[in-house]
Amino acid sequence: MPPAPATPLGTPAPRREGRAKVTGTARYASEHTPADCAYARAVPATIARGRITAVDDSAALSVPGVLAVLTPRSAPKLGDADDPTLRLLQDDDVPHRGWYVALVVADTPEAAREGAAALRIEYEAAPHDVTVRSDHPDAYTPDNANGGAPACRERGDAPAAWARAAHRVDAAYSVPPLHNHPMEPHASTARWDGDRLTLHDSSQGANAVREALAGLFDMPEENITVVAEHVGGGFGSKGTPRPQAVLAAMAARHVGRPVKLALSRRELAAVVGHRAPTLHRIRLGAETDGTLVSVDHEVTTHTSRIKEFVEQAAVPARVMYGSAHSRTAHRVVPLDVPSPSWMRAPGEAPGMYVLESAMDELAEATGLDPIELRVRNEPGHEPDSGKPFSSRHLVECLREGARRFGWDGRDPRPGVRRDGALLTGTGVAAATYPVLVSPSTAAVRALPDGSYLVRINATDIGTGARTVLAQVAADALAVPLDRVRTEIGSTDLPAAPLAGGSSGTASWGWAVHKACGALAGRLAAHDGDLPAEGLEATADTAGTADEESAYARHAFGAHFAEVRVDTATAEVRVSRLLGVYAAGRILNARTARSQFIGGMTMGLGMALTEGSTLDPAFGDFAERDLAAYHVPCHADVTDIEAHWIDEEDAHLNPMGSKGIGEIGIVGTAAAIGNAVHHATGIRLRELPLTPDRLL
Ligand code: MOS
Repeated sequence: MPPAPATPLGTPAPRREGRAKVTGTARYASEHTPADCAYARAVPATIARGRITAVDDSAALSVPGVLAVLTPRSAPKLGDADDPTLRLLQDDDVPHRGWYVALVVADTPEAAREGAAALRIEYEAAPHDVTVRSDHPDAYTPDNANGGAPACRERGDAPAAWARAAHRVDAAYSVPPLHNHPMEPHASTARWDGDRLTLHDSSQGANAVREALAGLFDMPEENITVVAEHVGGGFGSKGTPRPQAVLAAMAARHVGRPVKLALSRRELAAVVGHRAPTLHRIRLGAETDGTLVSVDHEVTTHTSRIKEFVEQAAVPARVMYGSAHSRTAHRVVPLDVPSPSWMRAPGEAPGMYVLESAMDELAEATGLDPIELRVRNEPGHEPDSGKPFSSRHLVECLREGARRFGWDGRDPRPGVRRDGALLTGTGVAAATYPVLVSPSTAAVRALPDGSYLVRINATDIGTGARTVLAQVAADALAVPLDRVRTEIGSTDLPAAPLAGGSSGTASWGWAVHKACGALAGRLAAHDGDLPAEGLEATADTAGTADEESAYARHAFGAHFAEVRVDTATAEVRVSRLLGVYAAGRILNARTARSQFIGGMTMGLGMALTEGSTLDPAFGDFAERDLAAYHVPCHADVTDIEAHWIDEEDAHLNPMGSKGIGEIGIVGTAAAIGNAVHHATGIRLRELPLTPDRLL
């Protein structure tokens, strides 16, 4: 056997489930079909606000194969849920268009669909309002933004300092609603065996699904198994339990057969969350040399009438640049809209689009190179908290990116580079994302054949979680990677937090590392051959893997973009995208690169094509499928590169890693917008940068 590498951490190990995925043998939530499985179809409300006044299910029930019609009049009563979006079919109120008002269960998907079409529901419509405005009379300051960040923070007197500043930027920006649209729409297959429930669900965290179902169905968690073996993306839309899990379980119990519910992509915009639109006012004030004296970022966003969710877009301004005076504030307007929720880099993605675009405006106002402006405002400690950074290599990312991109010697003048009908330009923006971590448990077993088995309810949403956790274990046990197997994706395994907040690998890996340490101790103490079942050790990082730290912990990065703008059509093409990251230790060079370029690709979509609109008359999202909501395709991404600098940070976790799942989207849209300005001289302050806005 060839000698094992010194450590498998950092090596570009191929993902373990890759072959199963590309050959179609990996099974997703809707691909588990128990014997006698029935199929459900959910029925969305067709009014924007109001209530159900009558239900006539006779035609639906007479469709051959239809087994049941569940409506607020007939559905079983549910127990408690923290999340009001899960209390489905419990009353006649319709809080927004697309809210589920019924579920039809049938022998086949076709019959369920036909039954849903035959169902007659009458409503009393009430006036609705789906348009967010910063001067909306219902706008209020919430207690917190999401993730527990305070809604407002003030240091010094930002407006007064801004008013006195030598250079001033004062700009209004806006980011439209955005939809997560994972490749695999949300789906669940539920099966009851007596009072035991088994649910295959497309989720980023099965433990939270199990907990929610236990409350809603008033049953002990031990009687529920939630399996999320393979998950076709989520981006936050599967970060919390979603309606399909509740409805599939409800229907299966009601009809006494297993039930599968796969949501149609067209339904997702109303029921699985979206990135709320954000309206920004940003004011930057600087001395003549570019030193910031005031950073003032105000955000207005919307939430639904049934649930408060505040896109925390002013939060990154508390982290990024030094300034004596600062104000960051969020306001939220409850509207008759679907409940917004997590979407990749919630807060950071729109917030850094605005801050980094405004920094480009300030660079132009001060005549400084955009990189030099950022370097001059590099803080010695986290501006808002005053804590020292555990590590911060933003300047190194900017410099390394500049070197690789060929930034030096760039002519700053906008609108002067012409290549036939094309105007070309380049832009840069910084990126940041916090280091998050949650407690987890894990088990590791040594088997008599010399192999090891890691068991943990981690979730692979396409990131390669199985692979990197095997690397963590192989490193901790000092054994070759191919000796380690991993079992993930079921609540029957040791409990673990979700794949979200770029915290999965840190949280799970910490527990795996700790279990491996305990196992090594047990093995050292063990005398003789291992028993047939092997020797196991478990670990729980509660009280250890803590988000509280004496240090401000964040990943940083720099994004560079080159664009070509067609002067006839105003079409923007991104000819080059480059990201350089400082994110602690990179644990798998291959899957990390995939995450970075995936995030950058999503940022490219955010910049150029993605965007949703709420139709004021219908109270609905106008873009609800991939024909209308344009995500980037291969032809949109010609040259995209991700690099990182090695970062040693002893204040993170035993692997020394920071999260990497979200930072790729942060800053990419600003880099592209700044490049469009450099190419054309036009400063657009509303995303996406579509030709109609640029013409
Ligand atoms: Mo991510 S928005 O934390 O799933």
